[in-house]
Amino acid sequence: MPNIIKLKKIVKKIFLKKGLSLKHSRECADAIINAELVGAHSHGLSRLKMYCNRIDKRLINPRPKIKVKKISNSVSLIDADNSIGFVSANLGIKEAIKNAKKSGIGFVGIKKSSHYGLSGFYAEKAVKKNLIAMIYTNAPPAVAPHGSSKSLFGTNPICFGAPTGNKAPFILDTSISKINRGKIRLAKKNNQKIPADVALDESGNPTTDPKKALKGVQLPIAEFRGSGLAWMVDILSGVITGANHGGKVKDPFDDFTGPQNVGHLFFVFRPNLFVKNYKKRIKENIKIIKKLPKINRIKKILYPGENKFNVYKRNLKKNIQLNRNVSVDINELLKAI
Ligand SMILES: NC(=O)c1ccc[n+]([C@@H]2O[C@H](COP(=O)([O-])OP(=O)(O)OC[C@H]3O[C@@H](n4cnc5c(N)ncnc54)[C@H](O)[C@@H]3O)[C@@H](O)[C@H]2O)c1
Repeated sequence: MPNIIKLKKIVKKIFLKKGLSLKHSRECADAIINAELVGAHSHGLSRLKMYCNRIDKRLINPRPKIKVKKISNSVSLIDADNSIGFVSANLGIKEAIKNAKKSGIGFVGIKKSSHYGLSGFYAEKAVKKNLIAMIYTNAPPAVAPHGSSKSLFGTNPICFGAPTGNKAPFILDTSISKINRGKIRLAKKNNQKIPADVALDESGNPTTDPKKALKGVQLPIAEFRGSGLAWMVDILSGVITGANHGGKVKDPFDDFTGPQNVGHLFFVFRPNLFVKNYKKRIKENIKIIKKLPKINRIKKILYPGENKFNVYKRNLKKNIQLNRNVSVDINELLKAI
């Protein structure tokens, strides 16, 4: 019997002890263990201690009074009262789904939130309800705007989810940096090197040392195009929601001067707004692409999300492997209970 349920219970217990409600503790545990199951270890248990630290310092509010302001049938704004990001994002996607079911479109902004893990986790919830989702969040400074030597944009992921009619949803969920910052943090924690072409040190030289990379800048995907996408995400999730933006989102690991005030944006809509036969059309679309001739060594063309779905299915049958540092963190947190 895999250890997934046991680990979920442990994480839930830790959050309960930190003062979160049972419902909120459960939501956090679900999101963190899901990250482990899809293979995103940089966004799973390796962050547990960081979340707990911020709750202890009251930079994450364990008992937030979250306000949902209904602006129209489609549009809502959530003030998350510095809740842990998993809780505000769960509420945000629920609200967006509810609005989309009613009016065709659900458009929900969230301010005063914090790190919520994987965007795809929330997109999947909308896709399971047969909706299309576009999800954005800003993040602390990591990437320099094109032409600047100073990091300001976060790794600001862009996420798009759509029902496919297959078991695996289409989930494109990608940072705008060459690798996500969590992977660099995890490499630092585990004393590993990072790839040579993803970050520069403080003097602007390429580095494989995660410590130097965290002090320097991460490189965006596709140069000025990646920088432009990061900027777009900062506008969508920060400027228009009332959250921090322009490099002011605080780093959850290193900056204890106040709550992060991350912004998120959830845009959810019915796929049949313009056509009646969406299901037939999307199946046809995927079929055309999958049938294309393949380059050497590629057996199958995958659509985004298919790889993670396969990893998730495989991992459900296995034990989650905890590395030494994560085990130490969990034991420390349990000892303090
Ligand atoms: N909350 C935050 O502040 C924050 C910041 C950055 C990243 N993240 C999260 O980190 C996670 C990982 O980001 P990442 O940039 O490392 O993603 P990634 O590089 O692992 O994957 C990016 C996308 O490419 C797709 N993909 C990968 N291999 C493929 C293949 N062979 N064929 C087709 N598609 C393929 C994946 O399904 C995914 O949609 C994301 O879930 C993101 O939301 C969160």
